[in-house]
Amino acid sequence: MTNIAVVYYSSTGTNYKLAKWAEEAAKEAGAEVKLVRVAETAPEEAIAQNPAWKKHLEETKDVPVASNDDLEWADGFIFSVPTRFGNVPAQVKSFLDATGGLWFNGKLVNKVVSAMSSAQNPHGGQEQTITNLYTTMFHWGAIVAAPGYSDQAVFAGGGNPYGTSVTVGQDGNMQEDVEAAVRHQAKRTVDIASRIHSK
Ligand SMILES: Cc1cc2nc3c(=O)[nH]c(=O)nc-3n(C[C@H](O)[C@H](O)[C@H](O)COP(=O)(O)O)c2cc1C
Repeated sequence: MTNIAVVYYSSTGTNYKLAKWAEEAAKEAGAEVKLVRVAETAPEEAIAQNPAWKKHLEETKDVPVASNDDLEWADGFIFSVPTRFGNVPAQVKSFLDATGGLWFNGKLVNKVVSAMSSAQNPHGGQEQTITNLYTTMFHWGAIVAAPGYSDQAVFAGGGNPYGTSVTVGQDGNMQEDVEAAVRHQAKRTVDIASRIHSK
């Protein structure tokens, strides 16, 4: 079986939802899947000022926190992270920066990865966030399995070839229907990971 870690960070639920769709689709594709969340590192005072953030954190407190062990276990990763000024959130950067030991020991080489993102604006930096995340993966020696235009679902979901992305309104609702694109991306990541890591 191919092991897939769906690793997400979400303040207000959008990327959690993208990650859940990816988890379901990867399981349907026959993978052994772990859904894990990047640890919240923001101060409690900051979270308390945003009711949607506080609510989502409480609702997902039982989702296991992502660790280096999850990365070592997985043959492939699907990341989902919100856009923060065109880049990954600090929480995700901290998580990535803690992978130095794995990197040093070559444990991330040939892992297959794809990524997804969201932002408040249609052109608010989703592509930049995904490619910034991929930059770290290039250093890992991972194999980036971006969706490209490998299925009609990519076009229908807004046409982001780097990874599925979505616009999320101030009400927290996604503006485009990207579920099929997420599912396609997840299945493709499983497919490529299983070809590279056939057991
Ligand atoms: C500090 C900060 C920076 C952000 N930067 C951007 C941005 O550059 N462009 C944008 O369109 N949205 C930006 N947003 C909005 C987030 O991308 C949006 O809230 C997020 O995608 C929602 O995902 P989530 O529900 O999974 O947390 C920013 C939000 C915060 C808190």
